[in-house]
Amino acid sequence: MRATAARAAHSILLDELAQDVRAGLGGSGPKTLPSRYLYDDLGSALFEAITYLPEYGLTRADERILRTHADEIVAGFRGPCLVAELGSGTGRKTRWLLEALGARRRVTYCPIDISGVALTRCEQEMGPIEGVRVEPVEADYLTGLSMVASRRRPHERMLLLFLGSTIGNFEPSEAMKFIGEVRRRLRPGDGFLLGTDLVKPAATLVAAYDDALGVTAAFNLNLLQRLNQELEADFDLNRFEHQARWNECFRRVEMHLVARRAHTVRSPAILFVVGFGEHQEI
Ligand SMILES: C[S@@+](CC[C@H](N)C(=O)[O-])C[C@H]1O[C@@H](n2cnc3c(N)ncnc32)[C@H](O)[C@@H]1O
Repeated sequence: MRATAARAAHSILLDELAQDVRAGLGGSGPKTLPSRYLYDDLGSALFEAITYLPEYGLTRADERILRTHADEIVAGFRGPCLVAELGSGTGRKTRWLLEALGARRRVTYCPIDISGVALTRCEQEMGPIEGVRVEPVEADYLTGLSMVASRRRPHERMLLLFLGSTIGNFEPSEAMKFIGEVRRRLRPGDGFLLGTDLVKPAATLVAAYDDALGVTAAFNLNLLQRLNQELEADFDLNRFEHQARWNECFRRVEMHLVARRAHTVRSPAILFVVGFGEHQEI
């Protein structure tokens, strides 16, 4: 029964991926793909490697802030408490908050992520923290948050985390809508801790997303590799170049995959064909 359910869930995900590929790469407008598809098993491992790169200071900065201010952040939370985290990944930096809370009472930690491997690692690492029970939720942000919100006990307060500047993956108008949806799932007395990076010199920010070792390039190109594996597409990764750019207008770094020359890509499994012009990008 479990195997059948898992197969059914997998084919729904494949349908969704196929739909997003048609919508994002078909048509005559700019080509885009939702950033959540970056995080298959290999993508999640590559992201974890990125967090150790010398150029990527964001994770170390988040960790420093949380380690230094953990007691202060959790001081307002008395009584039964649940910590939920959107896009937790391995939850490495949340350890400091969980230790501070777990030292005072029992805490339930619900990491919410679409990456099963990241959640498994998170459970292994956070599970042994004293006073903390880990209940991973493998789901999209808002679906996962609704699940957590619906099963919590009446007097349990929620501390919701959204760290690592992940909010930057949303377009500004989508980000506003998303925060509104998060707000609708919280109750008075809950807390929402949002971690975002500050603007820095463009060269520093671009280097953080285009490191010398090429780990971020591999992370980005793996998106095409994933389409090859899951949709039997024939992307030739050598025909695309990873580029990181500072967008002054939106004050954000963007990652693109730029076609080195004009060519056509096919995915017979979903009867999809797309042409790329020279320098055309995703
Ligand atoms: C930039 S990483 C941040 C990880 C961690 N919070 C940190 O600060 O290092 C984004 C995380 O969000 C997850 N993610 C991306 N899109 C998601 C979605 N739509 N729903 C749930 N999780 C998502 C990814 O699997 C990944 O673990």
